[in-house]
Amino acid sequence: MFLISSLLFPVLLGTATAQGFGNHNNEIHPKLQWTSCSQPNNCQQVNGEVVLDANWRWLHTKNGYTNCYDGNKWTWACNSTANCTEKCVYDGVNYSGDHGIKTSSDSLSQRLRIPYGFDWSVGSRLFLMENKTMYKTFTLLNNELAFDVYLPTLECGINGALYFIAMDADGGVSKFPGNTAGAEYGVGYCDASCPRNGKFVGGKANYDGWVPSRDDPVNGQGKLAACCPEFDVWNSNAHSYSMSSKVCPSGKNKFVVCTEGDYCDPRLSPSDERPGPKCDPVGCSWSTYRLASKEFYGRGKLVDTNKKFTVVTRWEENRVYQFFIQDGKKIEVPTARWDDLPKENGISPDMCAKLPDIFSERDRFMENDGWKSHLEMVTQPMVMAMSLNVDYWSYNLWLDSVYPPERENTPEMEYYEHGPCRDWEKSNPRVVLAEYPYANVTWSNIRFGPIGSTMQI
Ligand SMILES: *[C@@H]1O[C@H](CO)[C@@H](O)[C@H](O)[C@H]1NC(C)=O
Ligand SMILES: *[C@@H]1O[C@H](CO)[C@@H](O)[C@H](O)[C@H]1NC(C)=O
Ligand SMILES: *[C@@H]1O[C@H](CO)[C@@H](O)[C@H](O)[C@H]1NC(C)=O
Ligand SMILES: *[C@@H]1O[C@H](CO)[C@@H](O)[C@H](O)[C@H]1NC(C)=O
Ligand SMILES: *[C@@H]1O[C@H](CO)[C@@H](O)[C@H](O)[C@H]1NC(C)=O
Repeated sequence: MFLISSLLFPVLLGTATAQGFGNHNNEIHPKLQWTSCSQPNNCQQVNGEVVLDANWRWLHTKNGYTNCYDGNKWTWACNSTANCTEKCVYDGVNYSGDHGIKTSSDSLSQRLRIPYGFDWSVGSRLFLMENKTMYKTFTLLNNELAFDVYLPTLECGINGALYFIAMDADGGVSKFPGNTAGAEYGVGYCDASCPRNGKFVGGKANYDGWVPSRDDPVNGQGKLAACCPEFDVWNSNAHSYSMSSKVCPSGKNKFVVCTEGDYCDPRLSPSDERPGPKCDPVGCSWSTYRLASKEFYGRGKLVDTNKKFTVVTRWEENRVYQFFIQDGKKIEVPTARWDDLPKENGISPDMCAKLPDIFSERDRFMENDGWKSHLEMVTQPMVMAMSLNVDYWSYNLWLDSVYPPERENTPEMEYYEHGPCRDWEKSNPRVVLAEYPYANVTWSNIRFGPIGSTMQI
């Protein structure tokens, strides 16, 4: 994920709030209508709003204009975790002007790159809210989600995602006394990759041990990681898409702060088996391109990404599956084409058990207690996120290309094709950001309710 640079000047100043406390700016969350259904033909429009994740915000001294964080590092404005926690505050944001985020009735668009001060804001991550200070939460089991998406400009290497994470609904205010900003300022992000790039995690500045990223101009990693399970309804661009269940160990399927010494970030040392929270950053994943058909989804294909379409996802007890609607027609996802996989078109206990086997991949899903953890995740309230990003770590190759890339041009390559994007240098964020600054995704007509309630088709 990419954050804005905090290079700023006073003309963009609002007043601020904090992890500690502050003068609250009148940030106006963009309004977004969505639809809540209780049964077929019984749906209500909800006047909701969205908030920008705190990590995209300007972080500066409580009583002044000095940056606490600039580029991808902390500044001299504070000099320890305690000191930064006490001194630094988040600011309000201008959604459309500085971050390319626009809403209109039931539709929301996000743009990839937009001028911000002397620099650029790159991508964004938004959460749907219940009201000004609380995230809206959804319990997925036995429910369905429908949304429309329009993404013809999302080229290889770009990911427009809609997903659920088990964040605290108040952003952590009640659990962590240091945190008074909370959900109103987009605080409290976590996911199953146990990200360590949060500037604040669990009410504390992530100052100690912060290492700026080598490639990413605005990110780094500290010692504090924010773990929680994640259900990726939709990772996508105009060429490919996938759906994944990414769980934590049974009993830990909630927001957990993990510190160095715990096994926080599996990506750092894949062979490390030390105990501690170690969620599954990969997940049990359904990719239609990889598992079923290369002709199903893309430009001019059965689901034509040149045009808007509807994605419907259903969480049954023993499977999660999707179908599409485009031009008024229902389009079913084809079933898996590999001999050793069940003839299913989504994820299930059987599918999740067999996938690592046939592709000789590490079974991180099972290491995290598999479907048992999945059920723990989908029976608890989760927050909805919408994001648009480029990826300095893996160029989003796991979404639309051969992954892992060393399988390229090997005899087994076809097992590892997640999408048609082959020229991976073109998915390098530097190239993507230079070539497609205007890339944008529009989400609309979000509907949620019991299975069968959101759509009559
Ligand atoms: C916090 O850091 C600032 C700047 O380095 C310093 O002026 C201030 O005295 C520090 N406060 C504490 C409590 O250490
Ligand atoms: C931070 O700065 C303050 C004031 O300059 C100093 O007393 C303190 O020792 C410093 N703390 C660290 C961890 O460097
Ligand atoms: C937000 O940014 C836009 C474009 O820079 C500007 O026109 C608008 O006045 C800003 N809004 C506020 C409230 O500052
Ligand atoms: C926001 O919603 C929560 C949960 O429904 C409720 O407890 C809280 O009072 C609401 N706050 C405001 C400011 O409306
Ligand atoms: C989305 O991208 C297209 C193509 O670059 C552009 O014409 C359109 O204005 C963009 N829309 C938004 C909302 O940025």
